[in-house]
Amino acid sequence: MAGLVFAWIKEQGGLAAMAEVNQRTAEKLYAAGYNTLESIAVASPMELVEVAGLGETQALKIINAAREALEMGWMTAAELLEKRKEVVRITTMSNNLDSLLGGGVETQAITEFYGKFGSGKTQICHQLAVTVQLPFEKGGLDGAALYIDTEGTFRPERIRAMAEGVGLDPDEVLNRIYVARAYNSDHQMLLAEKAKEIVEEKNIKLVVVDSLTSHFRAEYVGRGKLAERQQKLNRHIHTLQRLADAYNLAVVVTNQVMAKPDILFGDPTEPVGGHVLAHAATYRVYLRKGKGDKRIARLVDSPHLPEGEVVFTIKPEGIRDA
Ligand SMILES: Nc1ncnc2c1ncn2[C@@H]1O[C@H](COP(=O)(O)OP(=O)(O)OP(=O)(O)O)[C@@H](O)[C@H]1O
Ligand SMILES: [Mg+2]
Repeated sequence: MAGLVFAWIKEQGGLAAMAEVNQRTAEKLYAAGYNTLESIAVASPMELVEVAGLGETQALKIINAAREALEMGWMTAAELLEKRKEVVRITTMSNNLDSLLGGGVETQAITEFYGKFGSGKTQICHQLAVTVQLPFEKGGLDGAALYIDTEGTFRPERIRAMAEGVGLDPDEVLNRIYVARAYNSDHQMLLAEKAKEIVEEKNIKLVVVDSLTSHFRAEYVGRGKLAERQQKLNRHIHTLQRLADAYNLAVVVTNQVMAKPDILFGDPTEPVGGHVLAHAATYRVYLRKGKGDKRIARLVDSPHLPEGEVVFTIKPEGIRDA
């Protein structure tokens, strides 16, 4: 087992990084869940000290080596601007919701939809998996979608109706959505890590994780598990962000909030994931029910868009303006 683990980490290609890692350290890292160079590169030294029991200097060395191996270097502001110019958007089929998001769901970013049950999170994910396939002039990216379904709520029938709603051939649309059911949080993380194998080949332009947090919430129960949960969730989110950046694709995640009537202090609708997610998701949209099929969307702490609220509806043919 130990030898295997070491060989496996070596195989990740980071020979420079691995010069700092002997077999025992490799095992410790692996056992703590750091099993890719990326996960090490984005870790903080204190994290490795605490979770993998390394010395601080050693942790720092390993992180730097992993970063070097991945060429996570500096970028000039001009280069960054060039990269930002490649950002494109996917329409939600609601003008209101699109304008709230600055024109649609952005590539190179993670957009989080959070809200209570029935607020429309899954419906929006289905809609985007369809509209990403539209040609550019119609608000799509002429691309395919990858759908990580953690709750078993993906419905091909719904896709069919929404495809017809935008004038696309339902069968073709279904053939360009790659669905995987994630059975637990580790499986979910693995699916995201393995996604790059299919992303390029199939021209994936949208990655959906619906829901991002349900498995984590169910598996890591209680105060004592909180740190571990956040750390894993953090790593998962970094994997998704790297996909978004590397392939200029959009990542959309959902997060259910529960009203906790017993809570006396703080926001009872605070989403699971707390601060880790708050800082990682580029756009966070809070959804709530209005009258009938109306839904209200509010943009929460976006880096460059004003906060605001808009109304949209969920129709049989999909998401539309009210
Ligand atoms: N075919 C349809 N036609 C019209 N409205 C629909 C249709 N299917 C679902 N809806 C609407 O979408 C709602 C469900 O929304 P959705 O499944 O997106 O909620 P959610 O936010 O994902 O909830 P959860 O947290 O339970 O996953 C239904 O209550 C209904 O109002
Ligand atoms: Mg749902």
